[in-house]
Order: sequence, then structure tokens, then C-alpha cells
Amino acid sequence: MMDWTDRHCRYLHRLLSRRALLYSEMVTAPALVRGGALHLLDYNPEEHPVALQLGGSDPEELARAATLGEQAGYDQIDLNCGCPSDRVQSGTFGAVLMRSPELVADCVAAMREAVKIDVTVKCRIGVDEQEPRDVLPDFLQKISGAGCERVVIHARKAWLQGLSPKENRDIPPLDYEIVREMKRAFPQLHVSINGGITDLDTAEALLADGLDGVMIGRAAYHQPWDILANADARIYGEAAGPVSPEEAVQAMLPYIGRHLASGGRLHQITRHMLGLFAGRPGARQWRRVLSEGATRDGAGPELVEEALSRVPAAA
Ligand SMILES: Cc1cc2nc3c(=O)[nH]c(=O)nc-3n(C[C@H](O)[C@H](O)[C@H](O)COP(=O)(O)O)c2cc1C
Repeated sequence: MMDWTDRHCRYLHRLLSRRALLYSEMVTAPALVRGGALHLLDYNPEEHPVALQLGGSDPEELARAATLGEQAGYDQIDLNCGCPSDRVQSGTFGAVLMRSPELVADCVAAMREAVKIDVTVKCRIGVDEQEPRDVLPDFLQKISGAGCERVVIHARKAWLQGLSPKENRDIPPLDYEIVREMKRAFPQLHVSINGGITDLDTAEALLADGLDGVMIGRAAYHQPWDILANADARIYGEAAGPVSPEEAVQAMLPYIGRHLASGGRLHQITRHMLGLFAGRPGARQWRRVLSEGATRDGAGPELVEEALSRVPAAA
């Protein structure tokens, strides 16, 4: 998620779940290939498994960007066919690509040819006046024919005229049923569902329905403890990670120390930690101390300790 799932966010999320697949923010292929902005590929080795999401629509440029991602060590390359923002539309990528399945297939084929790691696609169920049950099967047929074996479907349309990107994440109605239908129609395709999933009960129910994966965006960001710290045990049947949000905070301190020592600012990390105590006593004080203090010059780990001291000890 742009501006949210940067590498500091992903470091925290990986502490909470060893197994959940994490995604980068979208990085555009032109920025990497023409702009040489290779710093956009920076990540911490602890983050694996981590997917690099690319934006673009030029097969050759995407192939080169995918190669750069593979060389940087990413585990998967994902092509964004879901983002509705104007800026992205003007560059012909994101959700508008739902109208050009042949072009997306060419992009997938070029990326598949260039890299050994999985090439995946994140898409919508359609855009604007498209009828999802007409267009989505054809879209999936074409991209899987080109070598895409995994897809994440955001289970709502993008309305490219008249809605802001934020509205496009809430207003077009969700249709989980069509995603289940696509899984039945393409049994060999690994199909993950996305959109409006806010708890692990729902995620488990969707997996029990036959879907292969569940992608959780905003809820994982805003309630990382509830979603991610419980995912290893509930979804993957493995031992859970840290036993409490307090322990997760303590585990972040050495990382924060290294970041500050290399010239970074506290706020760049703590802004992703504000939701750690969501729904728990002390959540508001935790958020307040961090949001008021972390942008000040010289703010350091002692502010995090202070914020932690405002959270009542768990019973
Ligand atoms: C701040 C923000 C940035 C996002 N950036 C991206 C992005 O770069 N690529 C992408 O595929 N989706 C992006 N999304 C959409 C989410 O991945 C997801 O599809 C959407 O929020 C619906 O899922 P959710 O209800 O679980 O959040 C973004 C969402 C938010 C809130």
C-alpha cells in the first residue's frame, strides 16, 4: 500500500507474523528502468517472504523492472491492475488495464520470460461499465495462459470516472461470490481474495470456501496485532510470534536504534506502530505520546519507552 507498507512497516509486520506474505508499495517500472531509482527496491533481509509490486504496462520495461526486483532478492513480482488513481491512469497502468487483457498477458509473458520467481497479478473484478462475469473469466484465462499462476482479486470494481482512489476502496460494492466462482472455474490458479476483510474469522471462512489466500490491507495496517500476530497460529497452524504487543515494541527498539544511528527519524518507524494496541486499554495514550513526540528533533527510543509506560500492564 502506497505510503503505508514501506520497509519499516514491513519489518514490524514480519515481527508479528513469520508466515504472512508481505507486499511492497507499488513501484513503477519507469521509475526503476528509466529513472534508475533503485533505492525504491531497498528492504530489510528479515522481511522475507516479500513481494515487489510493479506498476506499468510496457512489457519490455516491466521485464527489466522484474529482473531488477529478482536481483534485489524479492520472492515474487506482482503486477498492479487494480489501482484507480488519475496519475496511474495517465501512465496506462493500474485498474485501467482491466480493459486490455491481451496487453496484461503480454506483460506477464515478458516478465515470466525474464525471471524465475513467481509473477502474480492483483486485479479488480472489472472497471466502470464492464460486466464482471463477462470480462473477468477472459482476463484470468489470458493472464494464466501467459504464465501467471497466482492472482489476488480485489472483489469490487474500480470506477475510473468520478471517484477518488479512497472512495474506490469503499464505494463500489464487494462481490465475494464472483471470486469464489473464478476459483471454481480456474482450479489450477492460486486465487486470493481481497477487499473489506477485517478479521481472521472471515479470512478462515473464505479459505474454507476453497479460496487459496486472503489478502488483508487496511485492517492489517490499523490493527496489526489482531490480524498479524494471530495469523501464524490460526491460518498456518504454527506457533505464534511475540506473546504481546509490549514484547513486539521491545523487539522493535534495536531496529529503531539502528535507523536513528544511520540518520533516520523516529517518526518514520513509529507512525506504523500507532495501531499496535488498537482496541486495548491505553491505546489512545500510546498513540498520543508517539504522534505528538516522534516528529520532534532528537526524538529517540526513550519516547517509545515513555509511550509504553502509559499502557496498563496486561492482566
Ligand atoms: C493507503 C493505501 C495505499 C494502497 N496502495 C496500493 C498499492 O500500491 N497497490 C495495490 O495493489 N493496492 C493498494 N491499495 C489497495 C489495497 O491493497 C487493497 O486492495 C484495498 O485497500 C482493499 O483491501 P482492504 O479492504 O483489506 O484494505 C492501497 C490501499 C490503501 C489504503
